[in-house]
Parts: sequence; structure tokens; C-alpha cells
Amino acid sequence: MVAGSRIVAMGHYQPSRVVTNEDLTKTLDTNDEWIRSRVGIAERRIADTETVADMAGFAAEKALAASGLTAADIDLVIVATCSSIDRCPNVATRVANKLGIAAPAAYDLNTACSGFSYAVGSADHAIRAGAARNAIVIGAEKLSDVTDWSDRKTAVLFGDGAGAAVMTGVPDGEEPGVGPVLWGSAPDKGDVLRIEGWRPYIEQEGQIVFRWATTELAPFAIEACRRAGVDPSELAAFVPHQANTRIIDGIVKRLGLSENAIVAKDLVESGNTSAASVPLALSKLIERREVPSGAPVLLFGFGGGLTYAGQVVRCP
Ligand code: UT7
Repeated sequence: MVAGSRIVAMGHYQPSRVVTNEDLTKTLDTNDEWIRSRVGIAERRIADTETVADMAGFAAEKALAASGLTAADIDLVIVATCSSIDRCPNVATRVANKLGIAAPAAYDLNTACSGFSYAVGSADHAIRAGAARNAIVIGAEKLSDVTDWSDRKTAVLFGDGAGAAVMTGVPDGEEPGVGPVLWGSAPDKGDVLRIEGWRPYIEQEGQIVFRWATTELAPFAIEACRRAGVDPSELAAFVPHQANTRIIDGIVKRLGLSENAIVAKDLVESGNTSAASVPLALSKLIERREVPSGAPVLLFGFGGGLTYAGQVVRCP
């Protein structure tokens, strides 16, 4: 019997091409000052040849190598993405094939920017139920494929990349490392953020999303902590979706974090990578050893749907 699950290792991948705000001014009526002050982004990575499945696979390979497990141990692969162009086969089976994972349960999950926390919650439930022993959970996006590069309102916001976590069961008697997921949506506001088939580019009513994120989401983040039995003041780090530093600061103001808590702001160098943003930021914090192993970290994603999800995880 298992008591729950934990994340044992993370990995991430970003394309090598850096696109700065200055680069964007060559084709768009925009400027570095506007992008930095309104959004917080300085640069982003844009994929040339890599697909969503390629980036997901690279991130997953790194996470698996760091986990001490092998492909033979993995029996569940979940990929959170909203930008995969191919409908079939799904990204998860492509990743499994690339990594030599022979016969896993493998599915994609689309809740846009909250996708990673939804996927971690789903894998946790599968492991608790005995439907899986070890899982790879990935957030991967190639948003450059669904960006209208002539629209300054959206083209300055997004980037490409992937982050992955290897999750495993925690035996009875031990403390689980993944807290209960808090997940939900505001479907009545769904149309304010769209990538529609007939015009497959990201469109959003930015101010409505901004207002929703800054006024309605903090209580859900606090509730995710309560469900894990962790007071927000005890968190070592907060890793929210990386859409806008003003949104992050607005949520942080209401959380009651300690002065020493780290707040991830990876969007400065990565842009908004939707479902990839939380695992990318978390993987980098771990790589830079900024959060001690075992310390509680609140993950919190929000965006298209509109959807949101979060949970407290123990740092691997
Ligand atoms: O990840 C999915 C979830 N999405 C989000 O969380 C996004 C939430 N929303 C936001 O982060 C912000 O609303 C944006 C960053 C998208 C936009 O910032 P804003 O402060 O809401 O700007 P705005 O859309 O109200 O535009 C203000 C002005 C407008 O000019 P006027 O009409 O006041 O003359 C825009 O045309 O800024 C102009 N503008 C720009 N100027 C320079 C819009 N985009 C740009 C740009 N460069 N790239």
C-alpha cells in the first residue's frame, strides 16, 4: 500500500534561440520598457526545429536520468500542453517511445497554463489508487506555433520550453511529498483566453484575465496550503504560473509568505510558457539548489479555461 506520492527528480529543456525585447522591436511597434514594466519579461526562448514532443522528451530524459529510475520502472506518462498541433498520436506516447518506456498509460491533458498542477494531481491520484507505480509528468509548449507574430498584444508574451517531474509512490507510514490538489475552473469566463481551430492563434482579453488572477486566485492558493497542512508562512518557495510579474506580486501580497521564501520569476528570461512555466521554474530552482530537499513549495497554475490548480510539494 502507498501513502501517496512524491517528486523524486525534475528536468527541463529550452530551445537555444534567445529572442530579446529589443529583437521584437524590429518587427513590432513595441519597446523594452513597456514589456518589462507591464509584464516583466526581458527575453524568451523560441524553438526552430523542435516540436512539443521533442522538448517534452528532452526534459523527461533529464528528469529520468536524475531520478535513479529507469524507463522500465515508468508506467504512466502525462503531458500537459495546449500547443501540440498533432491530434494523434498524442505527445505522451511519443515521449514514451523516445525514452524506451515500453507500455505505459500515456495521455495528454489540456488545461492550458494550469496543466502541470492538474497533471501532478492526476498522477498522484493514479499512484494512490494503485493504477501506477512511477510516473513522468511533463508540461511542454511550443507557443510560437500558435502566436500571431504581427500582434504586439500577444507576441511579446510567450515562449517555448518544457519541464518534467518523475513521481513515485511513498510507502505507508512515510510522509507523502505531494499535497492534495486544489483544482477548479471559471468556465463562464472561458472565452477571454482562446486558441480556436479556425484562427489558431492565442487571443486574450488581457485585462479581464489580469483582474481575475489578481482578485480571485489567492484564496485558492491559500486553500491548497491548508489542505497540505502547511501554513503559507512555512513555504520555502512559491512557484506560480509565469504570466506577469504584477500578477505574481499581487498574489504574493495576499499569501503571507515569510521574508525568506523564494518567489519564482522565471518569466524574466523565459516568457510565458503556459503549461511548461511551473515545471521549468521549479526545475531551475532545484538545479540552482535554491530550495533545500524536503522543503515545502507551493505550485500554482492558472490560465485558459479559465482554469486553476495548485498543490504543495516537497522539493526533491
Ligand atoms: O498565461 C495565460 C494567462 N494570461 C495572463 O495572465 C495575462 C493577463 N494579462 C496581462 O498580463 C496584461 O493584461 C497584459 C500584459 C496582457 C497587457 O497589459 P495591460 O497593462 O493590461 O495593457 P493593455 O492591454 O491595457 O494595453 C495598454 C496600452 C494600449 O495602448 P492604449 O490603447 O492605452 O494607447 C495597448 O495598445 O498598451 C498598448 N500595448 C502595447 N504597447 C507597447 C499593448 N501591447 C503593447 C506592446 N508594446 N507590446
